[in-house]
Amino acid sequence: MDLGYKGKGVVVTGGGSNIGRAISLTFAQEGANLMIGDVDTAQAEKVVAEANALNAGGKTITVKCDVTSLDDVQAMFKKANEEFGQIDVLVNNVGWDSMMLFTETTPEFWQKVININYIGVLNCCKTALDYMIERKTGAIVSISSDASRQGEFKEAVYGGVKGAINSFMKTIARENGRFGIRANVVCPGVTVPEEDQAIGDKSMWKGGMFTPEQLQKIGKAYPLRKIGRPQDIAYPVVFLASNVTAGHITGQVLSASGGYSMVG
Ligand SMILES: NC(=O)c1ccc[n+]([C@@H]2O[C@H](COP(=O)([O-])OP(=O)(O)OC[C@H]3O[C@@H](n4cnc5c(N)ncnc54)[C@H](O)[C@@H]3O)[C@@H](O)[C@H]2O)c1
Repeated sequence: MDLGYKGKGVVVTGGGSNIGRAISLTFAQEGANLMIGDVDTAQAEKVVAEANALNAGGKTITVKCDVTSLDDVQAMFKKANEEFGQIDVLVNNVGWDSMMLFTETTPEFWQKVININYIGVLNCCKTALDYMIERKTGAIVSISSDASRQGEFKEAVYGGVKGAINSFMKTIARENGRFGIRANVVCPGVTVPEEDQAIGDKSMWKGGMFTPEQLQKIGKAYPLRKIGRPQDIAYPVVFLASNVTAGHITGQVLSASGGYSMVG
């Protein structure tokens, strides 16, 4: 099935590591032209090489971009637009957390979580929408988390901010549908890297987030009895961003978490 990505311009933030890497490689496999914006240039360059080696018809490039900086984000989109001639898809994938009880957190920590997870999404959406509204087409997918739907232990600030993303994206969908722009959200559950090379030095997974025993326990708590893999998130993202497969879907929050949360 042709998802319609050939010749399209796609921007994936945090595309160097784990989930972002799988999303990037899946778009590349579909023949899209891809911009990876990441603070970790070394890791992003590795994914650029992997994506271009697929020879699927598109071109993958990267620029160093800190999504918390509006200047960086604007420069990234300008470069993508110059290279590809159009911006069709934005995937807000960057996210960060360090798990701890809310009572152990500090205002500095709250600010960091809000900046990386939320302000980054605002910067990217504001910039992408300028390009998309002009062409009256576009799709935005933001990566949230099941922590936004469940009330997750040791993820109070992160879960709250991801909940803000879910809500923000619904308004983006409502305000911009008239321009042919769709906006949706994918919520992963725990999604572990395939291998060590699949994560960068700035990855949340560097140094290990969970012990193997903890991962086994988490997997058992999911109805499908298994932990997520990055590809489990990449396919729903590519599905939701495609006007072929999801042309009438907007403002939706989809969990890809082995059934951990079930929101009707
Ligand atoms: N992996 C999981 O279990 C899980 C679960 C729920 C939600 N999520 C969400 O999925 C997304 C991806 O998670 P992951 O596990 O792949 O993360 P990761 O930490 O492995 O990768 C994040 C990538 O973003 C980059 N990055 C970090 N800060 C940045 C910034 N300010 N500007 C630009 N790039 C930046 C990092 O260099 C890295 O390449 C995040 O939004 C995360 O919150 C992940």
